[in-house]
Amino acid sequence: MLVLGIESSCDETAAAVVRDGSFLLSNVIASQIDIHSKYGGVVPEIASRKHMEAIVPVILEALDDANVSLDDIEGIAVTRGPGLVGSLLVGVSAAKSIAFARNIPFAGVNHLEGHVASIFLSDRKPDFPFVALIVSGGHTNIYFMKDFQEFNLLGQTRDDAAGEAFDKAAKLLDIGYPGGVVIDRLSKGGDTEFIKFPRAMKGSPDFSFSGLKTSLLTYTKKRESPITEDEIPDIVASYQEAIVDVLVDKTLRAAQSCSVSRVVVCGGVAANSRLRERFNEEADARGIEVFIPPPILCTDNAAMIAVVGDNLLSAGKKDSFNMNAVSRWSPGIKFKVPNPDKPEPRNGSRFKGSRLIVF
Ligand code: KG4
Ligand code: ZN
Repeated sequence: MLVLGIESSCDETAAAVVRDGSFLLSNVIASQIDIHSKYGGVVPEIASRKHMEAIVPVILEALDDANVSLDDIEGIAVTRGPGLVGSLLVGVSAAKSIAFARNIPFAGVNHLEGHVASIFLSDRKPDFPFVALIVSGGHTNIYFMKDFQEFNLLGQTRDDAAGEAFDKAAKLLDIGYPGGVVIDRLSKGGDTEFIKFPRAMKGSPDFSFSGLKTSLLTYTKKRESPITEDEIPDIVASYQEAIVDVLVDKTLRAAQSCSVSRVVVCGGVAANSRLRERFNEEADARGIEVFIPPPILCTDNAAMIAVVGDNLLSAGKKDSFNMNAVSRWSPGIKFKVPNPDKPEPRNGSRFKGSRLIVF
């Protein structure tokens, strides 16, 4: 099946064409970084307006790059959530319009399921089961996955996501945006032990990054002289190491406690060069195979959305035109529009009752 994927959940407007859920024909990503960087973070209202300007040209470019036309497209996959609703609505409206005009089926896709699916576009594809770490600007979650769409939550952040910890540190140090990319670059050659940052929640499968951020703030406030440019690489290298340490350790421990020998690492932070290096070294030492998509497929893209869409549409799971964008949505759960006449039982299965406890 030839699927057109559309993604607009945050500050990237993206479209891609994927054949049979695994062959990437095109992958176009229009970033809004330049606009949001002057505010030090994504401004939702500006993001939606920029998506409106970019969505049509980006879709046309993706079709053009793939050397296909809308006549060839057999299904449309669009990010339905989680994300900024105003941004999501632009992609959802575009998908519905094309589907209606061309009489093509379409499917709303969970963005986090998309991040995991990005591994199926990579050269090395894992077999199930595996443990997946989704680590992005909004999420830091570990899942045990027996199959596509079967997400069993093992651990998650109790406060900030790892990407947020990178972004907030860069904002505090005033070194640029997006923080993860800047810190990745500046920390090369820096001393990873320059500051002894805390590693929170040892012995728990969950994460916490807010104490780390506070610890950096305290360090900057306690100094008697301003931070010099020469000190930045050491400061950010030791900060980055604290994030990488817990991500690697908790994910590999989770895999070991589930007796799983494969780990998938995905989401924007998986583009981090130190995280990739440490995962490869340590997984090897523990006899675990690690799978990380190439950096361009780690950060937000529409190709990963097309992979999940192919899976849904091939199983006959298309959406109706009543489908709407949702800001919060856990992966692996079919989102139901609440029916006020038929309330769900209070012990409804939002998490499928499947939070495995490890450690
Ligand atoms: O998956 P993503 O593109 O969007 C979300 O779904 O959130 O992830 C964006 C996050 C941002 O916090 C950004 O700083 C981080 O991923 N990021 C990185 C790198 N590239 C992007 N973090 C660390 N190192 C990188 N190279
Ligand atoms: Zn994302």
